Amino acid sequence: MSRFWKPGAEKPRIEDDEEGGVLFYASSSSASSGYGYANIEAQRRRLPVYKYRTAILYLVETHATTIIVGETGSGKTTQIPQYLKEAGWADGGRVIACTQPRRLAVQSVASRVSEEMGVKLGDEVGYTIRFEDISNKELTRIKFLTDGVLLREMMDDPLLSKYSVIMVDEAHERSLSTDILLGLLKKIQRRRPELRLIISSATIEAQSMASFFNISHRRHQGAEEADHGPKKDPAILSVEGRGYNVEIFYVEEPISDYVQAAVSTVISIHDEEPNGDILVFLTGQDDIDAAIQLLTEDSHNRKKGLLVLPLYSGLPRADQDLVFSPTPRGKRKVVISTNIAETSLTLEGVVYVVDSGFSKQRFYNPMTDIESLIVAPISKASARQRTGRAGRVRPGKCYRLYTEEYFLNEMPANGIPEMQRSNLVSCVIQLKALGIDNILGFDWPAAPTPQALIRALEVLYCLGVLDDDAKLTSPTGFQVAEIPLDPMISKMILASNDYGCTEEVITIAAVLSIQSIWFSGWGAQKELDEAKLKYAAAEGDHITFLNVYKGFMESGKSSNWCHKNHVNFHAMKKVDEIRKQLRRIVQRLGIPIKSCEGDVQAIRKAVTAGFFANACLLEPFSHNGLYKTIRGSQEVYIHPSSVLFRVNPKAVVFHSIVSTDRQYMRNVMAIDPSWLTEVAPQFYQQKLPNPRPS
Ligand code: CDP
Ligand code: MG
Repeated sequence: MSRFWKPGAEKPRIEDDEEGGVLFYASSSSASSGYGYANIEAQRRRLPVYKYRTAILYLVETHATTIIVGETGSGKTTQIPQYLKEAGWADGGRVIACTQPRRLAVQSVASRVSEEMGVKLGDEVGYTIRFEDISNKELTRIKFLTDGVLLREMMDDPLLSKYSVIMVDEAHERSLSTDILLGLLKKIQRRRPELRLIISSATIEAQSMASFFNISHRRHQGAEEADHGPKKDPAILSVEGRGYNVEIFYVEEPISDYVQAAVSTVISIHDEEPNGDILVFLTGQDDIDAAIQLLTEDSHNRKKGLLVLPLYSGLPRADQDLVFSPTPRGKRKVVISTNIAETSLTLEGVVYVVDSGFSKQRFYNPMTDIESLIVAPISKASARQRTGRAGRVRPGKCYRLYTEEYFLNEMPANGIPEMQRSNLVSCVIQLKALGIDNILGFDWPAAPTPQALIRALEVLYCLGVLDDDAKLTSPTGFQVAEIPLDPMISKMILASNDYGCTEEVITIAAVLSIQSIWFSGWGAQKELDEAKLKYAAAEGDHITFLNVYKGFMESGKSSNWCHKNHVNFHAMKKVDEIRKQLRRIVQRLGIPIKSCEGDVQAIRKAVTAGFFANACLLEPFSHNGLYKTIRGSQEVYIHPSSVLFRVNPKAVVFHSIVSTDRQYMRNVMAIDPSWLTEVAPQFYQQKLPNPRPS
C-alpha cells in the first residue's frame, strides 16, 4: 500500500506507548495541498490539524484504524477528507466517506468543503441525508453523510465496497447509529483488509475505542497477514488545539428558570462586556424560541445592536446561513442553540458562552416501554466542550447557569451511550436486514440491555416483522426494513394497502417524519390555536395533517397560505418532498397507491395497525385527562399542541412521548379499542380481555 506514501516526505516520529497503541507527534514538515484560492488556502494552513497532515496520512496508510482526537474547530471534519483525497485515496473511482450524527452538520460541512475546494456541491463533494441526496454516483469523491444513511447503504452494498476510507466523525457523541456502525465496520474490516477507518472525535476515551478495534491478536491465524496490509492495532493521534483560556463563572444559587436566566445573562454581557459574539446553549426549539422572543421583545436591546439567531436541526437553509455568516459591523451576534453547536459545528467569533447545563436527551425504559425526549442535565464532558466554544478567537468567558458545587459533585462525568437509553426497534430490524441474527451476541462498542432487546424483538414480532425464529418475515419484514422510517410508520404504510388508503397514509408518514408543521414561537399561541381549529379533525392530529396538506396543495403550495394559517412553509415543502420519495419507495415495493376517497375509518385503522403498541385508555372518572398505556400502565397526557388536547377521547394511539413535568403524547389519534385486537391479535389477546366500550 506504499503508493499513498509520498517518497521523500519526512517520516513522522512514532513512539509506541505501553498499551500497544501508537501515539503520534507532529513532524515539523509541512506538505502542500496544491489547491488554489489563496486566502482559503492560507486559512486551511492555519488550522491545528494542518501540522499533522503528514502524520495522519502516514497512519491511515499503515493502520487499518486510526483514532484522531482533537478539539472542536481544529479542522478534523473539513480537512482530513481533503488530505485523503489529495493523497490519492479517491483515485480509481473510490470514495471517501465522512459520517456525522446530525443532518445539519452534514449539510454545513459539505458545503464548506465544496467551497474550499472550489467545486460545485453535489459534484466532487457531495452529501446524503435521509430524503436528500446531493451527490453524484460518478463524480462524487468525498461524501458526507449521516451514520444512519451509511447503515442504509449497507443494505444494498454490505461491504461498502465503493469506499476506500470511512471516517466516523463525532464518535464521542455515541449516537445509536454511530455505535451500530462501529460494530458493523469492525466486521467489514475482516472481509476488506484494504478498507481504512478513521474514528474522530472531540473527546473520547481513545483507549477504549482502540481496544474495541484492536484485532491484532488475530494476526497469528494467518502468517501472511503480519507482512501484508495495514497494522491491525489502531493508531491514536491527538491533535493539539490552540484554544484560548476561558474564564468560568457559576451562579451562586441554583436557578429555577434557565430560559429567563440565559436571557438576563445575555443582556448583562451585552451591557458590560466588550464586543464578541455570544453562544447560548438551551435544549430545543421551544425554549430557543421562547428566549428569542424575550430578547427581541425588549426593543431597547434591539436598538443597541443585538442580532439574535436560533440554531437547531430542521432550521431552514437561509436561517442556517445567517448563523454562519460574519457578524455585521457594530452588531453583536447571539446564537441560541441546541447542543448541535457543542462539537458538530464551529461558529467563528464566539467569545461568550452561556451554558444552561441541560440538553434534550432520549431515554427509554424497557419496563414501561416508553421512550421519551427529556430535558436532562448534561455531563461534565459536555460542559467542558461548551466552555471551549468561547476560546476560539481570543480569551473568552463562560457563564454556567448552575452552581460550582453542582458541577463538582453532582454532574455525571460522561453521558450514557444512546445505545443504552434507546428503544431498539429500528436497530434490531436493521441488523436483521443485514443478516445478523445473533443480536445479543453482537460485538457492540457498548452493549444494550437485554431487556431493551427483548422488548424490541417482542414489538417486531407483533408487527409481523419477525417470525417465531426471530427472522425477518417475507414480504412484510423485508419491506418494513426497506422503508427508511421508524418501523411503526413503515408498518402503517404497509397496512394502508389492506385498507386501500396508501395515498393518504404516506402523507401522514411524511408529516410524522418532521418535527412540526405548525409555525410556533413569537408568542402567537392564540392565533396558532385558532388557525389549527380551521383544519382540526375530531379524529385527531393525523387526520388534521391530511386536511392541512390538502389546503396547502389547493393553495398551489403557497407560502402566503401557510403564513395565513400559521403553517410552517418550509416544513410543508419538506413534507411534499418526503411524500414524493415515499411514493417511489412504496411503488418499488409493489404497493399500488390508492386513495380511500375520504374513508377516514380506513385511514385510522391503518394508523392503528402501525401504532397499536402505543395505545392508551382514558382513566375512568379522570377529570384532568389522565390516560394509561394499555401495555405498561404508564400515566400519560395529551400534549397541548394536539388538536385532541382537552377533547380526551376514550381511547387513543400516539406517535411519541415528550416528558416535561408530565409524560405528554404528541400526535394523537382517537381509536375504537376493538380495532386493537383486529390489527394486533397476538399483542392484545391476553392484555385486553375486555376492551372497554368506546
Ligand atoms: O471538525 P473540527 O471541529 O475539528 O473542525 P472543522 O469543522 O473541520 O472546522 C475547521 C474550521 O473551518 C473552523 O474553525 C472554521 O474556521 C471553518 N469552518 C467554517 O468557517 N465554516 C464551516 N461551515 C465549517 C468550518
Ligand atoms: Mg467536526
